[in-house]
Amino acid sequence: MRKKFVAGNWKMHTTRQTAVHLAQQIVEAVGQETAVDVAVCPPFPYLLPVREVLAGSRIALGAQNVHPEPQGAFTGEVSPVMLLDCGCQWVIIGHSERRRGLGEAHEFIRRKLVAAVQHGLQAILCIGETKQERDDSQTFAILRAQLQDSVMALTADQLTKVVLAYEPVWAIGTGVNATPVQAQEVHSWVRDWLGQHFGSGVAQRLRILYGGSVNSKNAASLLAQPDVDGVLVGGASLQAMEFITIVQAAKG
Ligand code: PGA
Repeated sequence: MRKKFVAGNWKMHTTRQTAVHLAQQIVEAVGQETAVDVAVCPPFPYLLPVREVLAGSRIALGAQNVHPEPQGAFTGEVSPVMLLDCGCQWVIIGHSERRRGLGEAHEFIRRKLVAAVQHGLQAILCIGETKQERDDSQTFAILRAQLQDSVMALTADQLTKVVLAYEPVWAIGTGVNATPVQAQEVHSWVRDWLGQHFGSGVAQRLRILYGGSVNSKNAASLLAQPDVDGVLVGGASLQAMEFITIVQAAKG
């Protein structure tokens, strides 16, 4: 039985004050939740103040990006070692806003994934197709390439530190979520692919989240799908009540 996982991706939003306040509201409402795993991923400058708020709760801290190297001359970058030092357990890797918006290549994403896992971080690895790719019936070819270029660099044991997030690009921040049927179709395909490459035991244990315009109204029906093991929430995670309701929905 895979435990549901709800992660909030705050992206480049909040101020120090609103980040702390949002974290406080989440801790108050679901901070001792045991039936669902919960994580929040604030912007880098707010990791430490948010960590203080999360202390003593069961809410995990995550970052939105990481560089593959542990240290060095990489202006503006943050290493896995630094994230661990700031109390992060999770890091988001391969988000389409970085793949497509910032031109991150497969190879760079693979290096980040391997480095994160080797250093002891858990990764939320995002994959997903664009609208054009879906219209051209390329969805599975795109996902296959994204998976092949990333998770194939991991051992089955390292893969236990990874959660996948199916995030169709056309659903991110658009208000148009994948339907539960569309999400389930992709998630079960991803699980089959994992089974072929890592064995069915690994595939059955690995959690696959859905992300893209998840909110308090559509979360329950997405989470009711057998292969949807949680959600990665962007916009709605910035409103405490929305996020808390989504966590409650994940309890089933
Ligand atoms: P959204 O973003 O919920 O605002 O669509 C999801 C994500 O990008 O992780």
